[in-house]
Amino acid sequence: MTLNLIPVTAQDYRGLARKRLPRNLFDYIDGGAYTETTLAANVNDFETIQLKQRVMRDISSVNTSTKLFGETLDMPLVLAPIGLAGMMARRGEVQAVKAAGAANIPFCLSTVSICSVEEVAEAAKKPFWFQLYMMRDRGYVKALLARAKRAGCKNLVFTVDLAVVGARYRDMRNGMAGGLNPWGKFRAALEYPLHPAWLFDVGIKGKPHMFGNLSNLVPNAKSITDFKNWIDEQFDPSCTWKDIEWLRDIWDGNLIIKGILCPEDAKSAVSAGADAIVISNHGGRQLDGVSSGIAMTPRIKDTLGDTTTILMDGGVRSGQDIIKAVASGADAVLMGRPWVWTLAAKGQAGLETYLNTIKSEMRVSMALTGTTNVSELNQKIFDTG
Ligand code: GLV
Repeated sequence: MTLNLIPVTAQDYRGLARKRLPRNLFDYIDGGAYTETTLAANVNDFETIQLKQRVMRDISSVNTSTKLFGETLDMPLVLAPIGLAGMMARRGEVQAVKAAGAANIPFCLSTVSICSVEEVAEAAKKPFWFQLYMMRDRGYVKALLARAKRAGCKNLVFTVDLAVVGARYRDMRNGMAGGLNPWGKFRAALEYPLHPAWLFDVGIKGKPHMFGNLSNLVPNAKSITDFKNWIDEQFDPSCTWKDIEWLRDIWDGNLIIKGILCPEDAKSAVSAGADAIVISNHGGRQLDGVSSGIAMTPRIKDTLGDTTTILMDGGVRSGQDIIKAVASGADAVLMGRPWVWTLAAKGQAGLETYLNTIKSEMRVSMALTGTTNVSELNQKIFDTG
């Protein structure tokens, strides 16, 4: 057995998060839909891409930075919107925006965050991104957009793959969706005292545990479950590209459509006025059995060419994954679970360390594939046999 004194990789932090978090919270972040086949494919498909080692090139200066929407980032990476992050670490979204700021990469706040857009804005040194779903009540959509704008957000990530919520069996087993008998309720409650470090740091000192962006919209809600029921009712399954055109008219910042997984939909997103798309299967949490984000990236890039900014997510765990995604056609990637695992395990400092590790992985992998600039990353760095 190794000593493992210092966590380094996403998997290391995942292991620590698993120990620290109550089971239902860990599973909510960690799990996917049905048999989690797509969740696994997101990770495995990155691993099957072989890099081509190149030597004797001048790699004395390797630059991982890139430009996205006119902004220079230290690397082509965005912290993806994740709901409930403030349940995993104390005021989690605030810690995350600070760590992203230190790494000079963007943070994207979820609609269903614990910290409100205003609380995050107070902690942020520069504009962060905001994510939204289409809600039945378009008045709420407008009101949330106005708040995001007032908080300085210029980039809106609009999620389109959650018209119905995927079936996540781990959440069902844990009773996250209800249905617990009295013994189940007792056993679930026991998870909190069984995780005292989390209980003290987050459960007690991290309050209030409400959805900060929605508290004035659901005034009678007393618990996360009340909010969840409201949100589930608010997801609008009748939403079409026409609604995206409506959104385009009322949002004058960048509009980034997240949840595209085929070339046809990518084209429709561009026609509806998107400035960018995120190739995504929602981290394997929606339709299990679909292709991974990395498998679809070159196919969608072939269709869109250089007309639109292309982002991707799903399975990004390392700096090497980032260069594989960029070489496959993405301008940048979003990374979800690893930032929450890291924050849950070791807080803001842990996330800052992990982001540094990712950057050095990128630098070393670029150097050993003979690449010195992100703009040079293309399929020539792959060993295709
Ligand atoms: C919400 O976006 C979720 O995946 O739980």
